[in-house]
Amino acid sequence: VDLTVDLSGRSDRASALYRALLDAVRSGRLRAGDRLPPTRALARDLGIARNTVATAYERLTAEGYLEARVGAGTFVSDVVTRPSGAGRKGVLRPRRSWQWEPSPVSGGQPVPRYDFRVGIPDAALFPFDSWRRMLASEWRLGGDTPGTYADPAGPLRLRGAIARYLAYSRGVTADPDDVIATQGTQQALDLIARVLLEPGDLVAVEDPGYPFARDVFALAGARVVPVPVDDEGLVVSRLPARTRLVFTTPSHQFPLGPPMSLARRQALLEYAATHDTAIIEDDYDSEFRFVERPLDTLHRLDAAGRVIYVGTFSKSLLPSLRAGYLVAPPSLRSALRAARQLADSHGSTPTQAALARFIEEGLLARHIRKAAKVYAARRALLTDAIGEHLGLRPIPSAAGLHLAVFLDDGIGIAARAAEEGIAVDSVASYTAGEGGRDGLVFGYGAVVTETIEPGLRRLARLSGRVS
Ligand SMILES: Cc1ncc(COP(=O)(O)O)c(C=O)c1O
Repeated sequence: VDLTVDLSGRSDRASALYRALLDAVRSGRLRAGDRLPPTRALARDLGIARNTVATAYERLTAEGYLEARVGAGTFVSDVVTRPSGAGRKGVLRPRRSWQWEPSPVSGGQPVPRYDFRVGIPDAALFPFDSWRRMLASEWRLGGDTPGTYADPAGPLRLRGAIARYLAYSRGVTADPDDVIATQGTQQALDLIARVLLEPGDLVAVEDPGYPFARDVFALAGARVVPVPVDDEGLVVSRLPARTRLVFTTPSHQFPLGPPMSLARRQALLEYAATHDTAIIEDDYDSEFRFVERPLDTLHRLDAAGRVIYVGTFSKSLLPSLRAGYLVAPPSLRSALRAARQLADSHGSTPTQAALARFIEEGLLARHIRKAAKVYAARRALLTDAIGEHLGLRPIPSAAGLHLAVFLDDGIGIAARAAEEGIAVDSVASYTAGEGGRDGLVFGYGAVVTETIEPGLRRLARLSGRVS
């Protein structure tokens, strides 16, 4: 610890040292249990008498800040906690609805040995060299990055690149002005909640479903209603009347997997027309698809402008990039842009410009093609291993980076699995309503291919499905 001790006055150097040490303890630079230098060493370092140091130590010991342990030295006392009472902790409280802890994040945990975590792509497949090149070329004077504030919707070049990418990969017809480049899906949901929801509005979220969607709507003051899903997707007949907003994942129901049937898509649009409902279509990982021709998006089927299409580069590139987009009907354009401006002005212009070039030069499409092959192989291995070791078939799905199975006590099995280094989610952990079936959700984006089979073998043993 650096001590700033004012020794200029010849008198009372012990007091000066006392104050310096006290300040170090109170500010947390010295913490409970830290060992102080021996008096002789500190005296030598500061060029003062050993007695002076001993006097300061004794005073702090008498006051309870330090304690001398015989034969071991002098330590900051265990009873010292840095903030003195409520003073340092702060007396301010968030609003009741914001008395909320952030959820644990994948980057905050060590990588599990059998890594079936959901929603994480394989960083080893990411074309870091090309990305670095694009980024470097944007960070220069005179590039596409003027040193000014920029359009809250993102650079036109990026919005155009996203619109063209969506047209050819998803059949979504969008004008660049319909697109807002966001910091991922989460920001898109936040902006939509801000501009659409009044306190008390009903928002229907698929159940099981995406917890971060539920949370963002609840914290915007909405009443969030879980609505069940079956093998055709969201059960439209279970939507309560006058739902203001529906959140759905039609390409790849999160987390169970089935695509929403065409009949359901039409029923949902009819419901929306009757009840004046907005629909968020979250198309989070359908770039990785395992069927020839996917169903039309809700956005494409919607003639009335009720669907807000939301997508992300978190799966097709990396979640740490924080890049995504929304495609909104013109009637919401100004409000969403204003909300974005007030939320965070706009995204990082050089990163957005680099992403535009990355898409324009075909690097995104190339990366997706390459990664999809790897993921397809892992998906096939995982399907086989689930069949062989658990005797189960994954719930049919057409896209994405995870597979789910129905199974009793998924929540208990996932907890026991975690203790053995197997990271897998239970269906229950995504369920808000009552009476749903439990199961397991296996991500195959991040898993090391060779660990899939042994991971399932272990899981089968600890789940009691195999003797
Ligand atoms: C249903 C769903 N939507 C969106 C996302 C991606 O969110 P973001 O774009 O904020 O990273 C995820 C990630 O796990 C997801 O599961």
